[in-house]
Amino acid sequence: MHSETLTSEQAIALENQYGAHNYHPLPVVLTKGEGVYVWDVEGKRYYDFLSAYSAVNQGHCHPKIVGALVEQAQKLTLTSRAFYNDMLGKFEKYMSEYFGYDKLLPMNTGAEAVETAIKLTRKWAYETKGIAEEQANIIVCDGNFHGRTTTIISFSNDPDSKKNFGPYTPGFISIPYDDISALEQALKTIPNVAGFLVEPIQGEAGVYVPKDGYLSQAKALCEAHQVLFVADEVQTGIARTGKLLAVHHENVKPDILIMGKALSGGAYPISAVMANDEIMHVIKPGQHGSTFGGNPLAAAVGMAALDVIKDEKLAENAERLGQIFRAEIQKMLPKYPLLKLVRGKGLLNAIVVNDTEHSETAWNICLKLRDNGLLAKPTHGNIIRFAPPLVMSEAQLMECVAIIEKTFAEF
Ligand SMILES: Cc1ncc(COP(=O)(O)O)c(C=O)c1O
Repeated sequence: MHSETLTSEQAIALENQYGAHNYHPLPVVLTKGEGVYVWDVEGKRYYDFLSAYSAVNQGHCHPKIVGALVEQAQKLTLTSRAFYNDMLGKFEKYMSEYFGYDKLLPMNTGAEAVETAIKLTRKWAYETKGIAEEQANIIVCDGNFHGRTTTIISFSNDPDSKKNFGPYTPGFISIPYDDISALEQALKTIPNVAGFLVEPIQGEAGVYVPKDGYLSQAKALCEAHQVLFVADEVQTGIARTGKLLAVHHENVKPDILIMGKALSGGAYPISAVMANDEIMHVIKPGQHGSTFGGNPLAAAVGMAALDVIKDEKLAENAERLGQIFRAEIQKMLPKYPLLKLVRGKGLLNAIVVNDTEHSETAWNICLKLRDNGLLAKPTHGNIIRFAPPLVMSEAQLMECVAIIEKTFAEF
């Protein structure tokens, strides 16, 4: 059942006819993945340079993660939180020790974890900080991407994400990203601020890396104003930027830490909110939850996925290969006028294509990269994100650099 082989054309036609058109995928139909590679239905192999938006940091179908998934799936998958299960507590302890927080609140998707952090921030503000009911404000940043729920898109300034989905949730004030004086000013002038929600690097916006010192100064300002520093590490977390968390580049410990994606290495949707007791204590039984959040399958997969990060030293590898990657692209800049710049940290990088924001050039380059055996996707017009699995070797990376160079040479 459901095992007939489709051609790429047939698979794309099915999605076009029966699926909502809420994505615009690059035309390639994948059927298999292993490590840094994926294969299409016609058998062609590609380097995956997106890693499912940084969910597959551990590489496709990592045997240890798949092993844990299969073993647990044959035993117990879901109990709901109506009952205890024998895996969740182990996972909570593991996460607590791994990331250095008192407690974990497990969810499934990144957006749900962000929603959870928002609720936690507001409740803390009313019950601990003493803000009057319904008055709490959360400061966010222009260009943010935190997911797709109605509350989250309420504070997006991307028209595609936002337009005609209103009325919007109030209580969010957006300030320029990477602008410490804007934050300072906002904290001085905006009343009833509960938290500052920020991506340590803005991934979706186009891999904007803030200036050194921004995150640590922002954290210090938040502390001075009794405002929670809430870091969305859904995309930047779990070794992607060359440290376990991107905030670790500046030795910052967020009050609330949001993670998702690579917490499972792509095998299963797992997200997490972490905080210490004085914050997490505000949520009491019945006040928040999810049928699937904290299920035993997620617990088993999550521990295996995080074991792989440490055992295989993926943060260190991302740091080293990221340096090499950016240096190699830098060398190409003078040769190819279409290549404007490269930026990033670890293996979360982007190149900016020298063309107008709404030109088709970045898309067309991605089609050519695909033809040459490498899959990447434009994010916001003329920016192409490059985020391969972190299990890549230096030799593989150099092969990818050659593919990128060949593509620009052909263009
Ligand atoms: C920083 C950030 N937060 C939240 C999300 C939302 O995660 P999900 O798509 O799992 O809901 C994303 C997804 O790209 C993200 O990059």
